[in-house]
Amino acid sequence: MPTLIVTTREGEERELAGETGLSVMEVIRDGGIDELLALCGGCCSCATCHVHVDPAFLDKLPKMGPDEDDLLDSAGERDATSRLSCQIQFGPALDGLRVRIAAED
Ligand code: FES
Repeated sequence: MPTLIVTTREGEERELAGETGLSVMEVIRDGGIDELLALCGGCCSCATCHVHVDPAFLDKLPKMGPDEDDLLDSAGERDATSRLSCQIQFGPALDGLRVRIAAED
């Protein structure tokens, strides 16, 4: 299974085996990291699944849709590496992807 590397808010790095077809948010949640609230369950309406993506992977990610873009505007700490993890499908093409969970708003 492809691997997702997650840095928690405390700076701990965790390697998670991610099932293809799940979103990055679901891989993080299923990996037992509960600080990523993902309150809306992946409906792109809460922004509590905000992560910062390793810049080396930004080009490999699906393009950001207008809803994600609008929601991220409401999130604190948005920068050029910001994405909503529920909007990124995980799979072999993203093996080794590194994300850092954004600070809580
Ligand atoms: S889980 Fe709510 S926007 Fe991603």
